[in-house]
Amino acid sequence: MKTMSSSKSRFAGRVVVITGAASGIGRRAAERFAAEGALVYGSDVNVAGLAETEKLIAEAGGSFVGRAPVDATDEVQTAAWLDAIGSEHGRIDVLLPSAGIARFSPIEETSLAEWKFVLTHELDIVFVPTKAAWPWLRAASGNIVLLGSSAGVRGSVTNTRIAHTATKAGVIGMAQQFAAEGAAHGIRANSVSPGVIRTPATEGDLLAADHPMRNIAEHIPLKRVGTIDDVVSAILFFASDEAGYITGTNLMVDGGWSSVLPG
Ligand SMILES: NC(=O)c1ccc[n+]([C@@H]2O[C@H](COP(=O)([O-])OP(=O)(O)OC[C@H]3O[C@@H](n4cnc5c(N)ncnc54)[C@H](O)[C@@H]3O)[C@@H](O)[C@H]2O)c1
Repeated sequence: MKTMSSSKSRFAGRVVVITGAASGIGRRAAERFAAEGALVYGSDVNVAGLAETEKLIAEAGGSFVGRAPVDATDEVQTAAWLDAIGSEHGRIDVLLPSAGIARFSPIEETSLAEWKFVLTHELDIVFVPTKAAWPWLRAASGNIVLLGSSAGVRGSVTNTRIAHTATKAGVIGMAQQFAAEGAAHGIRANSVSPGVIRTPATEGDLLAADHPMRNIAEHIPLKRVGTIDDVVSAILFFASDEAGYITGTNLMVDGGWSSVLPG
């Protein structure tokens, strides 16, 4: 009789690759993929942060191999890292390009140089590792999970962010196009779009005492800001076989914020 595999083994033996694994969503995803049996590979530009991720996962008994610094906007560094992993295993099962730098400014204060910085650190940073991993994802009929954002589907009065809005809409579009181009190879691609998530970065910025968004939880239907685990649970679902018939989808993880009108 066929039995349901336990959630502990959803990713047993799967090769999972995560950029930006030194912090936030990337680190927590690395921990939880490893806890469910994956062979996790992570990179970052932050050497000390990635070493901390490695320590946390080792202490929990998981498998994690880190490499830093690897700049995910740099084609040469990124391809060398991913080709080493792909050659070792003959495949990459899951790619999570979580690295990124979020910077917010209104159009009147956004120079062309700033615009290009944001495009590099939110779009190139997804394109470069996905292109390098593509042959190995093909070999595995693997899948890609991208980090979009509520910023990719709605403008904001209180968080003015013209470049970030454009890039996150772009990321959601990239997941759809990866789904289109990957389908013939069995590759799935989806995006998870967080709303406001409590992280060290948002506590110092969007949720800081002097920011107009500090009381945003009052306006979120579920009356709280999100946690990193709220986001990572959705990532693991998309990456798992349970989502085997889901591709090209963008899932909002925002407590209903982008779907429900205020009042
Ligand atoms: N936290 C939120 O509220 C939120 C909301 C919506 C979307 N997101 C998205 O989720 C993703 C992860 O966000 P997070 O909150 O975990 O951020 P984070 O700042 O905690 O982690 C990002 C990691 O990326 C690394 N990084 C930056 N530039 C790099 C580069 N060039 N090469 C390699 N590594 C680099 C950083 O060192 C850091 O470790 C981002 O795409 C972000 O836009 C986050």
